[in-house]
Amino acid sequence: MNFYIETYGCQMNVADSELVTSLLITAGHNVVNDIDQAELILFNTCSVRAHAEDRVLGRISNEKHRKKANPKIQIGVLGCMAQRMGKRLLDSKIGVDFVIGVDQYDRIPALLSAKDLQPHLLDFDSTQIYQDLMPVHQSKTCGFVTIMRGCNNYCSYCIVPHVRGRERSRPWQDVLNDVKKAGQDGLLDITLLGQNVNSYLDNEVDFPELLKRLETVDNIARMRFITSHPKDLSDSLIDVMASSKRICEHIHLPMQSGNNRILKEMNRKYTIEHYQSLIHKLRHAVPNVAITTDIIAGYPSETDTEFEDTISAMKDIGFDYAFCFKYSSREGTDAAMRTDQIPEAIRLKRLQKMIDLQREITLAKFRAQIGKEVEVYIESMSKKNKDQVSGKTRDFKIAVLKGSESEIGSLKKATVIGATAGTLICQ
Ligand code: SAH
Ligand code: SF4
Ligand code: F3S
Repeated sequence: MNFYIETYGCQMNVADSELVTSLLITAGHNVVNDIDQAELILFNTCSVRAHAEDRVLGRISNEKHRKKANPKIQIGVLGCMAQRMGKRLLDSKIGVDFVIGVDQYDRIPALLSAKDLQPHLLDFDSTQIYQDLMPVHQSKTCGFVTIMRGCNNYCSYCIVPHVRGRERSRPWQDVLNDVKKAGQDGLLDITLLGQNVNSYLDNEVDFPELLKRLETVDNIARMRFITSHPKDLSDSLIDVMASSKRICEHIHLPMQSGNNRILKEMNRKYTIEHYQSLIHKLRHAVPNVAITTDIIAGYPSETDTEFEDTISAMKDIGFDYAFCFKYSSREGTDAAMRTDQIPEAIRLKRLQKMIDLQREITLAKFRAQIGKEVEVYIESMSKKNKDQVSGKTRDFKIAVLKGSESEIGSLKKATVIGATAGTLICQ
């Protein structure tokens, strides 16, 4: 049967969609990129903020009409929202035929061949790591390799541990095989994925050791990893970053807040002083390292002064980029139970202030690169100009330069001649 899969949320979901694609192809089904050709439509969904869920619900409902035209069409919901809402999605009358949770994907083929007719399969399986499954990479340039699943951290605002289950690491040999396969497929840029890669552990192999063991794989030119939790970022990881030729000069290190009381309430288990000391060490060990982050505005009980601590930290640190979010209450989390929620208008005002500030900082960071030589990994044609190609620098900045389709997948040296707050213009 022809299937089409639409993916929302983080890279973990992108990687999971690749797994599901692989499973379905092995079972004799056929992936299509055009939804009109599909008899099976899958939505791999995200629950991290209410907005993410609302978007997908709207999107699924929009496709309901297809089932009237062709009753054979089936719509399935996978991912974090499937896990969170379960049967409620089936009951919602938006045309969903089945929901499958994050640890049950290997049962999809049987479900489709009607051997297993349960319309919702949601049990967590704390051992599920989809062993022996080789993902079908969607990109011809950048590969994602899951090194661990789940999360044990229970940050008080976050739904992820509730929808992804407990943390488990994949055997290091399996990770190595996936990275080798990606290298053989011609992907030069690999991102290792986990909710907190710093707590990776397979017997004696911890995360820095895993990176060392991946360093020798043929073809791979660039290696990255997301996400690092500041409480677990070790000196040995910083050492490996400093000595490796492949690990890119970039780290994504979510700060969440610049205020210690809020960090404590968020159950983040570090102080802003500790966070700043990590930045200092990283910048010392890896010159020109780009640092990106996630920050939340308007966590319950956050005062204006406490929010200003976040603004000060952003100014002090000068992130290359910050993903700024306004706090979104998620049913089932500790923070959602609180009675001191911040009014929506204040959350929005704080969010806007962070976005405006970060835009200025990012622009300054990008402009500071003018005149420098960078290495660009050409990933696609530029959307704006058909004589230009677009790619990323080692420090995770989007760059455009003159080029043609045949250069996609290659590494090119270029000089930065201009910058906006999101793109380096190179030649
Ligand atoms: N495991 C990763 C991130 C997972 S979610 C980590 O720990 O960093 C990505 C980001 O979404 C988080 O870093 C956080 O900034 C944001 N986020 C998570 N839950 C949120 C919520 N309820 N409201 C607003 N932002 C949230
Ligand atoms: Fe969520 Fe915290 Fe786990 Fe990240 S570390 S996924 S923010 S609970
Ligand atoms: Fe969203 Fe699930 Fe990722 S909630 S951010 S898709 S782990």
